[in-house]
Amino acid sequence: MKIIMLGAPGAGKGTQAKMIAEKYSIPHISTGDIFRANIKNGTELGKKAKTYMDAGQLVPDELVVDLVIDRFKEDDCKNGYVLDGFPRTIPQAEALTKALSAIDEKIDYAIDVDVPDENIVNRMAGRRACVGCGATYHIKYSPTKVEGKCDKCGEDLIIRDDDKPETVLSRLEVYHKQTQPLIDYYTEQGILKSVDGTQDMKDVFQDIINILGE
Ligand code: AP5
Ligand code: MG
Repeated sequence: MKIIMLGAPGAGKGTQAKMIAEKYSIPHISTGDIFRANIKNGTELGKKAKTYMDAGQLVPDELVVDLVIDRFKEDDCKNGYVLDGFPRTIPQAEALTKALSAIDEKIDYAIDVDVPDENIVNRMAGRRACVGCGATYHIKYSPTKVEGKCDKCGEDLIIRDDDKPETVLSRLEVYHKQTQPLIDYYTEQGILKSVDGTQDMKDVFQDIINILGE
C-alpha cells in the first residue's frame, strides 16, 4: 500500500503516518525528519536545507525529489510506504507520478488531514519533538510521562526551530500557495480522501482505517 499524507503544517500528518506505518507494517518516510537528521549530523544537505526551513520556506525541489525516489529502492519499501511531507509542490507530485509509472506502480491513497489555520498555531506552540527517535508529543494533547524526556528512547525533547509563531505563519502561507494545489491534483487522479483532523488523534486514525481497510 502506497500512501501520501497531505495537510497543513501541524495538521497531524506525522502523528497519523506513524500509526499507519505501525498498523500496516510499512515504512514512514518523512522528508522533514530526513532533513532534520541531516541538520543534526551537520551534512551538506542539512546545511542547505536549514536556511530554508528556519525561514518557513520550502527546500528547493531538486534537493528533495531524488532523495525520496532513491529511498523507495530500499528493501523495506517493497510492500509500500507512507509518505509524510512529500510531495509538497506540483513539480514534486509530477516527478513522483513519473518515477512510479516508469516501474508500473502508483500511489493508492492521498489522505488529506484537514485542519483550519486557526487551530494550527496553538498546536505548534505545544509540540515537542525527540531528536533521538523522531517521536512527537504535545504538552496538552499528547504529553510524555516524564516532562521533557521521550517516552520511547529517554532522550531530551526539543521545540523545533520552525515552530516559532511567526515562522508557523509563513509555513501556512507557503502551504496554501504551493502545497494545497495538490488536493486538486490528487482529486483528479481519483485517489484523494479527506479526514477531519480537528478530532481526537485516535478518531482521526479510525477514519483513516475506515478508508484503508483493517
Ligand atoms: P515537515 O517536517 O514536513 O513539517 P510540516 O509539513 O510543516 O508539518 P509538521 O511536521 O509541522 O506537522 P505534522 O502535520 O506532521 O503534525 P504533527 O503530527 O507533528 O517539514 C519541515 C520543513 O522541511 C518544511 O517547512 C520545509 O522547509 C522542509 N521540507 C520538508 N519536506 C519538503 C518537501 N517535500 N519539499 C520542500 N521542502 C520540504 O502534529 C503537530 C502537533 O499537534 C504535535 O504536537 C501533535 O502531538 C499534535 N497533534 C497531532 N494530531 C492532533 C490532534 N488530532 N489533536 C490534537 N493535537 C494533535
Ligand atoms: Mg511532521
